Amino acid sequence: MTVRSDIETGRDLTGKIALVTGATSGIGRAVAKRLAAQGATVLVHGRDVNRGVQAIEEIQLTGGSARFLPADLSDPGAIAGLVEEAGAVDILVNNAGTVWFGPTPGLDAAGFDHLFSANVRAAYLLTAGIAPGMGARGSGVIVNLGSIAASGGFAAGAAYGATKAALESFTRAWAAEFGPLGVRVNSVAPGPVLTPIQPAEESNALGQSTILKRPARPEEIAAVIGFLASPDAGYMTGATVAVDGGYLAL
Ligand SMILES: NC(=O)c1ccc[n+]([C@@H]2O[C@H](COP(=O)([O-])OP(=O)(O)OC[C@H]3O[C@@H](n4cnc5c(N)ncnc54)[C@H](OP(=O)(O)O)[C@@H]3O)[C@@H](O)[C@H]2O)c1
Repeated sequence: MTVRSDIETGRDLTGKIALVTGATSGIGRAVAKRLAAQGATVLVHGRDVNRGVQAIEEIQLTGGSARFLPADLSDPGAIAGLVEEAGAVDILVNNAGTVWFGPTPGLDAAGFDHLFSANVRAAYLLTAGIAPGMGARGSGVIVNLGSIAASGGFAAGAAYGATKAALESFTRAWAAEFGPLGVRVNSVAPGPVLTPIQPAEESNALGQSTILKRPARPEEIAAVIGFLASPDAGYMTGATVAVDGGYLAL
């Protein structure tokens, strides 16, 4: 499959402000570049300042507009600060996340709480801070990052899968809650994607169990998010779109 290059990407988000969480790495970084190529001004969020600066430079080199907003999303105070710094946001991509894979008895209460605070509570508090402003302005788009782990049974992924199932559940509830105010809310559910979140050997091995027999590149997830954020997806809300090489179809 070929993904349209930035040069060929339609500038259908010109004038929009997009906040992409976890945009210093992997999928989020590809999403930030994609939305910038579509014309949005991108607020690149992450924790790592060096990689944040690199992401901004990459976007600016291709003629895009971006600025870096650091925050640790495990900290509710930092999330409140991020909401304030971001100001009026038209597109929110709740992408930041972390993983923990292992046997259920191996994850203690602190680890469980850390996983849920970074993956679930952060997206909840950020959306609570940003969606009402979208509603007051009469339009907005939210995209959440789910996973095949939300609906497939992975022996080592009980807690991680539950965090992603929560995001897909938020998607349906927020579509109902904010839809009447003009806000569309959808999720993407990627299969294995080659990013630093897990060793490439593991992504490659899981990729072999998809119909397409390979993991995705981050740009292939970003392309779908770019579409969901665009006016072309104007009749889509409350949906979770599988971008998994056919993993869940088998
Ligand atoms: N890769 C896959 O196979 C795959 C499959 C399905 C779903 N997903 C989901 O896709 C999303 C992105 O994953 P990825 O693969 O691109 O991972 P990644 O390359 O490891 O990037 C994760 C990003 O999230 C940020 N982040 C993590 N915890 C944070 C926290 N507490 N506060 C602030 N930022 C935090 C990181 O920021 P810093 O590095 O700057 O700290 C980084 O920018 C995640 O939600 C993941 O669950 C990934």
